[in-house]
Amino acid sequence: MKILVINGSPKGERSNTYRLTQAFLEGMGESGEALETRELEVGRLKLRPCLGCFSCWNKTPGQCCISDDMGLVIENLLWADVTVWSFPLYYFSVPGPLKNLIDRQLPMVLPFMEEDGGETGSGSHPARYDMSGKRTVVISTCGFYTAEGNYDGVKSLFDHLCGKGQYTALFCGQGELFRVAEVKRRTDEYLEFVRRAGREYLADGISAETRAGLNRLLFPQKIFESMADASWGVNRETGKRESDTLIFTRQMAALYQKESWPGHDLVLEMCYTDVKERYQIVLGREGSTVLTEGFRTADTTVSTPVTVWRAISEGKTSGSEALMKHQYRVEGDFELLITWDKYFAGAESGDDAGGGEQAAGTALHMPSKPTGFHILLLPWIVFWVAASVHPFWGSLISLAACVLVPLVFYRNQKTIYDVLSVGLVTGFSTALLLGAPSQLVIPLAYLAFGIMWTATCFCKIPLTAHYSMNDYDGEKALSNPLFLKTNRILTLAWGVLYLLTPIWTYFILGTGIGGWVGAINSVLPLLLGLFTAWFQKWYPAKVAKG
Ligand SMILES: Cc1cc2nc3c(=O)[nH]c(=O)nc-3n(C[C@H](O)[C@H](O)[C@H](O)COP(=O)(O)O)c2cc1C
Repeated sequence: MKILVINGSPKGERSNTYRLTQAFLEGMGESGEALETRELEVGRLKLRPCLGCFSCWNKTPGQCCISDDMGLVIENLLWADVTVWSFPLYYFSVPGPLKNLIDRQLPMVLPFMEEDGGETGSGSHPARYDMSGKRTVVISTCGFYTAEGNYDGVKSLFDHLCGKGQYTALFCGQGELFRVAEVKRRTDEYLEFVRRAGREYLADGISAETRAGLNRLLFPQKIFESMADASWGVNRETGKRESDTLIFTRQMAALYQKESWPGHDLVLEMCYTDVKERYQIVLGREGSTVLTEGFRTADTTVSTPVTVWRAISEGKTSGSEALMKHQYRVEGDFELLITWDKYFAGAESGDDAGGGEQAAGTALHMPSKPTGFHILLLPWIVFWVAASVHPFWGSLISLAACVLVPLVFYRNQKTIYDVLSVGLVTGFSTALLLGAPSQLVIPLAYLAFGIMWTATCFCKIPLTAHYSMNDYDGEKALSNPLFLKTNRILTLAWGVLYLLTPIWTYFILGTGIGGWVGAINSVLPLLLGLFTAWFQKWYPAKVAKG
């Protein structure tokens, strides 16, 4: 299949729209069809405006009197099976040079008048050449937050040019974001839909699902507009140019999602150590404000070279890895950093093109189903308490717990340790039912539990991380080295406790208070639980302080 791309952006290959066009072409290429592609960049062509002399209709039919690159354009238009028009929206229409090229297509039609089938309610001219079977795609980005309502002029132009419904259009708002590295995650997600559209276009046509993805705003209107306003680097009140670092800070502040406001304002202070500039972002109920003076008491202070923070924002460096390497420091409330994605929009899409802001508060990367620590613990606790009171009935109760717990918590995602726990508790309970001595089986159960925990300290993801990730960005937290290190230490602490527990359990079971061993053995875990809650916050904050 022969594809012709007409790139009507004066920016050539640096064009935002061209990124969409490339993704569309990549998608077409993935469809399995052999493609031959040619590209014409309007800005590089020598094209004079139409003289309106009609000599291409009467004196030299089919031949323009101007000798320039338009002959080459027409030759390519006749060659192509699919023509992709790629251009930015300029003043609600196509850029001037592209309009010029469109005007110069006059030699491609005959002078005679005919009805256009009533589609557009106006007259038209018959084609001079056989254009049957040729297809048209129109791809365009615009600067406003939505394409909705901005493309009436373009639609009308192509309706007349190709016939209503006779071409495929991809119009996208917030076009300037395609060159902003900080929001690449989101624009890449959008480009994936464009690629899909290209793939489907050559097969059965673009599906409704892909269309829905293409119609979704890159960012909610308010967030996009504040980001766009900040990007010009000009102060709203004075009209003067601001420092690059301040522009960067304003753009970061623009990504704030006010739906995450925790009930009181948060003050985030950014100290850029290399350029010696300091700004505060106040995260409030109605939005964010950047303070350049009259500073408030900061809740969280980030001291960082601006280069490091930029690299993190652009996704070139991992924030948590940079923190571990002490490339920046955080003082005060560390929680804000841990739950950053809740406060600042990143990869997530905005609302549908008609758009409001409803999607803005949904940035948490939670797994589809959360895991549950209780699912792991309950069978063990039931076994330790019940079996030490009465080995036979306690074992039966434990077996019932092994069956019931997964059923009751069927909504939760199960980890390998939940499954292992059910298996082990079933094994120990069966051993007691078969008459094995409880003074041996119960300590062994503690030992097995301790081994399970300690062993995972040597795995990539320590046991507690599988559960505490629910509170920290879901599965995304599992790639955070600081999160994993914190959990490794905690898992080891718990593992060691349970490796030691069998020792005193064995002796207590030999005394008259053996039935209380389950209750007695709950005291230390309770204390360790309190330590865990404290350590989870204290340790990352200590590392962050450097
Ligand atoms: C002269 C000019 C006129 C523009 N007119 C509009 C417009 O009417 N509506 C709009 O939403 N964006 C408008 N824009 C913004 C561009 O459409 C937007 O920046 C687009 O993403 C640029 O695409 P490109 O990089 O492919 O050239 C205009 C930009 C320029 C330079």
